[in-house]
Order: sequence, then structure tokens, then C-alpha cells
Amino acid sequence: MTQQVQGVVAPGRDEPVRVETIVIPDPGPGEAVVKVQACGVCHTDLHYKQGGINDDFPFLLGHEAAGVVESVGEGVTDVAPGDFVILNWRAVCGQCRACLRGRPWYCFDTHNARQKMTLTDGTELSPALGIGAFAEKTLVAAGQCTKVDPAVAPSVAGLLGCGVMAGIGAAINTGQVGRGDSVAVIGCGGVGDAAVVGARLAGAARIIAVDIDDRKLAKAREMGATHTVNSRTDDPVEAIRELTGGFGADVVIEAVGRPETYRQAFYARDLAGTVVLVGVPTPEMKLELPLLDVFGRGGALKSSWYGDCLPSRDFPMLIDLHQQGRIDLAAFVTETIGLGDVEHAFARMHEGDVLRSVVVF
Ligand code: APR
Ligand code: ZN
Ligand code: ZN
Repeated sequence: MTQQVQGVVAPGRDEPVRVETIVIPDPGPGEAVVKVQACGVCHTDLHYKQGGINDDFPFLLGHEAAGVVESVGEGVTDVAPGDFVILNWRAVCGQCRACLRGRPWYCFDTHNARQKMTLTDGTELSPALGIGAFAEKTLVAAGQCTKVDPAVAPSVAGLLGCGVMAGIGAAINTGQVGRGDSVAVIGCGGVGDAAVVGARLAGAARIIAVDIDDRKLAKAREMGATHTVNSRTDDPVEAIRELTGGFGADVVIEAVGRPETYRQAFYARDLAGTVVLVGVPTPEMKLELPLLDVFGRGGALKSSWYGDCLPSRDFPMLIDLHQQGRIDLAAFVTETIGLGDVEHAFARMHEGDVLRSVVVF
């Protein structure tokens, strides 16, 4: 059996997205169909549309979502119809070499649904990050559904499915920010602001937000930054050193994904400090650094995949902290929009006043 719903499809490279009828198969073994309630618009969706990820058009976009499980396939025991879930794009396998070594957040063989969603003419869709949640319903692997407290608004919960989790996780999981640390965050969009929130949660004493846009810096301050640096007018490396007794920050989180900002992060960190790269570079970017500085400055240069999160551990915990008022995830939702407004939301991403547009159903 199948059912038909409306969903946002990117038909081809740089073509505008369209709302189309999508055919959803009933869940097979290990799969679940989720009634999507909210899905945030992320840069990665735009990258898919532009052909920047791969050429497997048409894509069913959307991957930062929360909803209610409608039905599950054979053998699914962790979630059941009616459960409120956040969708994750790294459902750990439990069997690969990373999982077997007790590091499931690095899982090298994450799961997606086996069956394909299609257009009505049978054309197979490629769901963005194996999710495809700009749709009234979507088919995923059951492991991509993480149960959380249903009292939280779907538009807020869904944010943890991608950007906000990436940022918070960059600080608390990858950067291992500790009480009293100094932290600098370069690039204060949704991901960078979430890193600010994570650093504050972890007890950082000093949180220095760096951006080229004063509006972003004002927002970062609301999110918990203690200092701000506009790197268009001030040298961020010097400014960060000045704000940290002349030494540099213990942890610098790079949330832009460019060689020049990575270099700033590298030199703005104290000796033996940590750089966390959570911004995603493009294939042509190259980094050049004196190897002696890489050695001589010591410490750790790390990348953060999805905030090195373990959805089953981190999503419910962060939802609880939000419910207790200890972090404010709602502050990331700039606007809620309809399914037909995704193209417009892509355009607004570059205007600089949107952290997240969230499609609500
Ligand atoms: N120096 C400092 N800040 C910069 C620079 C720069 N050279 N260039 C851009 N920025 C700032 C922008 O002003 C903006 O505030 O970086 C921020 C980027 O934010 P968004 O565009 O909202 O992106 P976001 O969703 O936060 O994602 C950041 O993480 O997941 C990846 O693909 C994503 O690489 C992107 C990064
Ligand atoms: Zn695994
Ligand atoms: Zn995303």
C-alpha cells in the first residue's frame, strides 16, 4: 500500500523548488512513516537544490524536523505510532567499527529507509540527508526517530534535528568546553549561536562572538555571548587574544567553513587549545598553514559531524533543559512559514536577519 501527500521537490540544478504530490510506501521492516509537524529550512537544503551535494535529482528537501510516528514496519520496537519524535540523519548501526569501539556518534554506517518515496509517475526521490521532511509525511528508518517530551512545540523540537544540535554539540561534545573556559565562536548564524548556547550551558566564563554583521553580533549577545568582535573592522585574532589575557581562547569554534576563518580560529586559540570546525567547506577550498605552527601550538584540531551527537542521548536531554528554561531553543525560530514558502526562505537566508525559517504543517 502507498499514500500520497504534498512535498517540496528540487527538480534540477538551480531550478526553483516545487510543491509536488509524493507517493509514500507503507513502512517495511525497520522503517517508520512520520507525520511531519515542523521542518526548519537549513543551508544544506539550499546546497542540495544548487547541486552542491550531488546530482541525484529530484530531491525531496527538508531534514530538520519533528512529528508524530504514524505507522511502523516489522521488527520496530523503539518507537510506536503516536510517539512524538525528532528526526535525526545519523541513525547509528550498532555494528560498524566505530559503534563496536563504543563511539557510536562516529557511526560509519548510519541507516536510512530502504524503500524509496517517488513522484506519482514513479520517479524515485532522493530525500535530503535521508529524511525529506518538507512533506506532510515521510518514510525513514525507525532509528532516525528519536522520542522526546511531546510538551515542546514541534517548530522548536525540530531544530535539534540539524543546525542547533550541530552548534550545541560542537561546544559540548566535540570541543568539550568546561567550566571556566574561554570560548570564541566565529560565524554567528544558527549554528554559531547554538555553539554560544552550548558554551554557556557548559559553564564557559568568557564567550566571544565573532561575525562580520553587527545584527548577528547583537543576537549572539542575547544568546549568551559575553563579548563581540566585528571581524570586518577589527582583527579577530588580536581581539580574541586581548580579551583572553593576551593568550587566546581555550576553545575556538569555526562555524563558517572557510579557509580564512579557519586560520583565524587556529591562531586565536591559546597554546594547546582546541579548534572545532563545524562550518562545512566546499570541495575547492584549500587550507595552508605552517606545519611548524601546527606542531608548535599543540592541542587539538577537530571536526564536528552533526555536533558529534548521539540523538538518543542528546535530543531528550536538550529538550528537557529547554523545558526547564536552562536553554532557549525558541529563540532560534525567526518565522514560521508554509510548505509553499521554501523558495522564499532560501532567498531570505542571505539577507542576514533570519536564524531559522520553520515550515509548520
Ligand atoms: N567571518 C565571520 N563571520 C562570517 C564570515 C567571515 N568571513 N562570513 C560569514 N560569516 C557569518 C555570517 O554573517 C553569518 O552570521 O557566518 C554566519 C553564517 O551563518 P548562516 O549563514 O546562518 O549559516 P549557519 O546555518 O549558521 O551554518 C554555518 O555550518 O552547517 C554549516 O553549511 C553550514 O557552513 C555552514 C555553517
Ligand atoms: Zn555504526
Ligand atoms: Zn541541516
